[in-house]
Amino acid sequence: MILETNRLIIRDFKTEDLEDVHVYASNPLVVEHMIWGPNSIEDTQSFINRVIEMQKEVPRQGFEFAVVIKASNRLIGGCGIHLCGQFQGEIGYCFNHLFWGNGFATEAAGALIEFGFRELGLHRIYATCRPDNIGSASVMKKVGMIYEGHIRGHMFHKGKWNDSYQYSILENEYSKEG
Ligand SMILES: CC(C)(COP(=O)(O)OP(=O)(O)OC[C@H]1O[C@@H](n2cnc3c(N)ncnc32)[C@H](O)[C@@H]1OP(=O)(O)O)[C@@H](O)C(=O)NCCC(=O)NCCS
Repeated sequence: MILETNRLIIRDFKTEDLEDVHVYASNPLVVEHMIWGPNSIEDTQSFINRVIEMQKEVPRQGFEFAVVIKASNRLIGGCGIHLCGQFQGEIGYCFNHLFWGNGFATEAAGALIEFGFRELGLHRIYATCRPDNIGSASVMKKVGMIYEGHIRGHMFHKGKWNDSYQYSILENEYSKEG
């Protein structure tokens, strides 16, 4: 599976991606707000194995993609969309910090939303972030998602219960120009 944007190729992960993924997945700065990490090399290997297994599902319920810069063929992060509930999907993303601030997450999230509505036929796409993850909330707003609410005690990770902010976009709100 391959999605393409102006600057990015967003494709299924391969076994050879291990090292590039581990660079960001093992970085405490990058995973500060994630429910996983920092990864050991075994954690990253198990992630790669899991997402490659996911590619064999019929019909497919989860898509975890490598994000690669077209011009340099450099793998700079990952993003995903997972089906849940009735025609609903959840998206997420995580990038190597060397590439933050270039609009890549916005470009990748936009591609996931287009894929979710146009190819998967979803009705609603949502995402959550921890309340202090200002960058992630900005990406959600930039791709047209609307703030739905503050979920208290949503996720247990890194030794404590964490709240989340939830954002979503509905199919009828989506337009390629928006
Ligand atoms: C959050 C993350 C995905 C943003 O990636 P990015 O490629 O830097 O995002 P973009 O360049 O598309 O930025 C989108 C907007 O968010 C803003 N933004 C990004 N990071 C920010 C930060 N740390 N603080 C404030 N604003 C931020 C940008 O300025 C931009 O707004 P602008 O165009 O008006 O300037 C990236 O920082 C990351 O991978 N973080 C670690 C993993 C993570 O937290 N994932 C999300 C889990 S919910």
